[in-house]
Amino acid sequence: MRQPQVPSSAALVFDGAELLALDQRELPWRERRLSLRTADEVADAIRRLSIRGAPLIGVAAAYGIALELMRDSSEHALDRACQTLRSARPTAVNLAHAVDRVRAAAAAAPGPEMAAAALAEARAILGEEEAASDAIATAGANLLTGARTVLTHCNTGALAAPGRGTALAVIAELASLGQLERVIVTETRPLLQGARLTTYELARLSIPYELVVDAAAPGVIAGGGVDAVIVGCDRVAANGDVANKVGTYGLALAAGASEIPMIVAGPTSTIDFDCPAGTEIVIEERDPDEVRRAAGVPIAVQDTPSRNPAFDITPAALVTALVTEYGVAQPVTPETIAALAGPRR
Ligand code: MRU
Repeated sequence: MRQPQVPSSAALVFDGAELLALDQRELPWRERRLSLRTADEVADAIRRLSIRGAPLIGVAAAYGIALELMRDSSEHALDRACQTLRSARPTAVNLAHAVDRVRAAAAAAPGPEMAAAALAEARAILGEEEAASDAIATAGANLLTGARTVLTHCNTGALAAPGRGTALAVIAELASLGQLERVIVTETRPLLQGARLTTYELARLSIPYELVVDAAAPGVIAGGGVDAVIVGCDRVAANGDVANKVGTYGLALAAGASEIPMIVAGPTSTIDFDCPAGTEIVIEERDPDEVRRAAGVPIAVQDTPSRNPAFDITPAALVTALVTEYGVAQPVTPETIAALAGPRR
């Protein structure tokens, strides 16, 4: 199997004293690492999307708590760090799951050992996510055997999740099997994660791709040249509804109309078994200025009223399959989602 040229450590490296994070706001123009030493600094990087992607923000937050406890090993510091990091972004449930796990591990340790316990838990989460990425790649490639052209949205590779990522890991696995001819990449306005980050990763993996504007995707699908759509996820509700990058719902509608598979890939850390349906998921509303600009350049009349929901909800009925490290939920129903809770819990 061909090894990815973007290593699993590409996005985050913990060197024992600080978290070195590739600043994803600056890619692909500049490869610069941020040195993060406190929970506040990690939370800021998550808020700004210097660190992004549901599984990766969970791992970063886990290390953020450990970093804070290395400076101040007190219950007050633990509480404050957890609160700051948990609220950095609202939609991806991996963030809350990781913070809750590290908090429990640290709180169970005697004072002087809290930082070590938090660090051990952060490392465990990282290891689990790396293993999940490999399992998702294999399961997704099996599911998509024969697919020659796939369309993907946003960025779901090694920049978004430990290991090779989620949906992009499936794509890389298909490519390594020699089946894939081309990936259609949507630019993913307003912050251009597809145009900036997915092209960056695919180019390094030597996987052929074509970039399209978001609005072109449904027409490209209807034109018959796409075998499957595959995306990641930020929170999957217990009924299988999926929150993912804004634009995913439109792609699911287009995939359904053309009767091609709409595949969602993600680790079970992205499933919120306590959330009954997509209607309960908080959708992050970001600064409207992100819409009034493209790559930092103003593109609308100054102060044009705008809205900036960062995610949307795709109903379970429009999702052909959810690929996780513990198997594939297909069809996506409350029962098939519940079956994934067993191995997770
Ligand atoms: O706002 P972002 O860039 O963090 O959004 C990321 C996505 O929507 C991804 O599809 C999702 O987190 C899955 S990442 C493996």
